[in-house]
This record gives sequence, structure tokens and C-alpha cells, in this order.
Amino acid sequence: SRILNLAVIPGDGIGQEVVAEGLKVLSAVLPQDVKLETKEFDFGARRYHATGETLTDADLEALKAHDAILLGAIGDPSVPSGVLERGFLLKLRFAFDHHVNLRPSKLLPGVATPLAGQPEIDFVVVREGTEGPYTGNGGTIRKGTEHEVATEVSVNTAFGVERVVRDAFARAQARPRKKLTLVHKNNVLTFAGHLWTNVFNKVAEEYPEVTTDYIHVDAATIYLVTDPGRFDVIVTDNLFGDIITDLAAAVSGGIGVAASGNINPSGDFPSMFEPVHGSAPDIAGQGKADPTATVLSVALLLRHLGHEAEATRIEEAVSADLGERGGKPARSTSEIGDALAVRVAG
Ligand code: IPM
Ligand code: MN
Repeated sequence: SRILNLAVIPGDGIGQEVVAEGLKVLSAVLPQDVKLETKEFDFGARRYHATGETLTDADLEALKAHDAILLGAIGDPSVPSGVLERGFLLKLRFAFDHHVNLRPSKLLPGVATPLAGQPEIDFVVVREGTEGPYTGNGGTIRKGTEHEVATEVSVNTAFGVERVVRDAFARAQARPRKKLTLVHKNNVLTFAGHLWTNVFNKVAEEYPEVTTDYIHVDAATIYLVTDPGRFDVIVTDNLFGDIITDLAAAVSGGIGVAASGNINPSGDFPSMFEPVHGSAPDIAGQGKADPTATVLSVALLLRHLGHEAEATRIEEAVSADLGERGGKPARSTSEIGDALAVRVAG
């Protein structure tokens, strides 16, 4: 029998609650011959307060020994802003070379959207995950004075851009509509923008069946609201991808259903799957959090590991569950998890 060796990081706030439901559904969907082995890691605010550590080299070594990582959410108001973001989440994405940050948006039947009508929304954002303004390449001079100058340099390498653009083309090629949109700001960011555009156009020649398109990021925010159906696959840099995927989540059911994967396609390091939402300390421990985004992240995890049928079963279960939800009394976190576990098993 095969083994799925999973590192589990519940993290802070509602992270604990939603990860428990994700694991419940994962156990229910796995075929008999796949044995699930999980190891829990205690990263997050509590560990930081107790030890001052966010993520050590020894932690990275321990995580590395797994097939994949499931993360709930990290972050708490008691920890200064940036400490866990840089010291844990970004450190992990960079250390494990998670250069494909995959964020699908699909408006499922019965799910409320703030957009008029019920538009067809089914696209996936391939956000670059290891470069751009996220590298921490910058500095401050004359700090705290009226003459303070702060820089935050966006790093874009031909290597880093090409590998994520190639990944996006391959994903577009595999989808029925075969359309790929590059989102950037090449009218202003002429250095990085031209690198992205040139690489995009070069790789496009290898994918004659993929229809390509370019949109400035500001215009993209308009189309995501007025005409989201025009998008199939979007490829973009780390910061633009961060921003437009929150908007994408907002128009396609909210962060309660937005899943993501931090993927290292080569398999040299384990990929990490997490809901787009944060730790929501205001509702933590009350059974109010919707575990759906985590459950959908588990589907991405299974697909990444080659369990396509199981991934699809989870997505169909979520779709059916959401379809029946409308007008019913609100269910608790574990009630939703139970319902999904029953559906994927049946
Ligand atoms: C996300 C988050 C992170 C990001 C933060 C917490 C560092 O907003 O996963 O989208 O900006 O990537
Ligand atoms: Mn974000």
C-alpha cells in the first residue's frame, strides 16, 4: 500500500478548526490502499511567543521529509505585523521554491456574488511566488526623519519569469478554453514589464493553440468585476497576483471558498496548500469558520500528488454542498466538514 506523508500546520486562530475538517475530508476520500500519515507542526503565534522562533533550519529539514504540507492560517494581533508573514510564510515559500502560487476562482452554483446576475466565473491565477517586490530587497535611509527614503526593489529574473510563464501556458493548454492572459503594468514598469512581456511572447510561440492576451493590472481589476468570464488562466507577478486574487475571491464567493497551492512543480521540495483566508482571530474557537476553502485546498493537494479522481470527488462534493446550502440555517465548521466527508465517501 502507498503512503501519503503529510505535514500539517494548523497555525493560529481558525486555522486549527478548518484544518481538522480538511483532514476529515481527506481521510474520507483517500482510496483504501493509500495510508495517510500526518505529522503536526506547531508554527505560529504561540510558538513565537514561547521561543521567539518562527521557522528554523531544523524545521525546514523536518518539513522537507513530507509529500506535501497542509496549512491552516498563521497570524495573530499579538505578534507585530510582518514577523510571521516574513519569518514564517514567505520564508517557507522561498526556502521550498514555491514559485507557482496557484489560485483558482470558480463561482459555484448557489454561491452568492456581489456581481450583477450570476456570471460564469472559472479561471485560475498563476501568481509568481518567489520574486517581485516580495524578496525583501530594499532599505531605508534617514529613517524616522522628514527625509526618510525607503526602497522596495522588485526582483524579476529571466529564469524566474520563464518558469512560471511556462507553467501557466501548460495549464492553459490543458483547459478547454486554452486562453492565457498576462497581467502586468508594462506601460509604467518598463524594465520588469518588458521582461515579462518578452518572455511571455517567446513562450507563446511554442503554444500555437493557446490564445494570448495582455492586460494592465489596473484594467484587470475592472474586468474582474465587469466581465470575469473573459479570463481562463492569468499569469502575473507576486504582488499583482496577491492583490487580484483577493478581488477574484471576493467576486467568486468570498474567501470562505478560496483555495490555493504554493507549488514547487519539480517536486524537489514539498508543495504547500492553504486557504487564501487568514486566521480570523475574531471568530476563532467558535465553530463559525467555513472550512470549505481548506477542503478545496486539499483537492488541489491531491491533484498535485496525482490523485485526480479524489480531487474531483472533493470538488463535486463541495459544489453539491454549496448548491444545497442556500436559505438553510448556518452550520458549524464541523457540521460542514461532516457533510463533505459523507459526500466524498459515498
Ligand atoms: C497571501 C497573503 C500573504 C501574501 C501575506 C500574509 C504575506 O496575503 O497569501 O496572499 O502577501 O502573499
Ligand atoms: Mn494575499
